[in-house]
Amino acid sequence: MSLRDILIYPDERLRKVARPVDSFEPALAELVEDMFQTMYEQRGIGLAATQIDEHRRLFVADVSEDRSGAQAFVNPEILALEGAIESEEGCLSIPEINETITRAERIRVRAQDAAGKTFEREIDGLLAICFQHELDHLDGRLFIDYLSPLKQQRIRKKMEKAARRERV
Ligand code: NI
Repeated sequence: MSLRDILIYPDERLRKVARPVDSFEPALAELVEDMFQTMYEQRGIGLAATQIDEHRRLFVADVSEDRSGAQAFVNPEILALEGAIESEEGCLSIPEINETITRAERIRVRAQDAAGKTFEREIDGLLAICFQHELDHLDGRLFIDYLSPLKQQRIRKKMEKAARRERV
C-alpha cells in the first residue's frame, strides 16, 4: 500500500474523462487499497481515481464517522435520480473551498465492487451526495463547475495564488 499524491485544481488532468475498468486483476485491488489509504490520510469521505492521476472509472467512499463504511464503486452509473438537496461540499483537490451545491436527494445506482461483482442499490443522504460528486470526477467535472462564472474565477485565482506561495 502506498499514499498517492492528489492532483490540485486547476491541474488540467482533473478534466480528463476516465475510461471503464475492464480487468479486475490484483493491480486493481492494490489501487483501491492505495485510494482508501490516501482518502483516510487526507480525512476525505470520497476519492476518485482521477484525483490521483489514474484515469479509470472507480472511486472509494466512506461516509461513516468511525471508518466502518469503506466502499469501492467500479464502473459506477446512476440509473435514476429523485428529489433535490442542498449541502455544503468540499473536495480534496480544491482544499479549503466549501460551497453549497444542489444534488439529487435519492439515486439508484449500479456499480461493480473491487472483485468485479455487479450490484444495484438505492442510496440517499451523504452517500448519495458523495456518489454524485465522485462520479463527476470520473467525467472531468468538479463541484465548483456548478457555481457562477464569477465565483469560479475567484476560486481559481485563490488556488493559483496558494500554489505560488507553496513554490516559494
Ligand atoms: Ni472531490
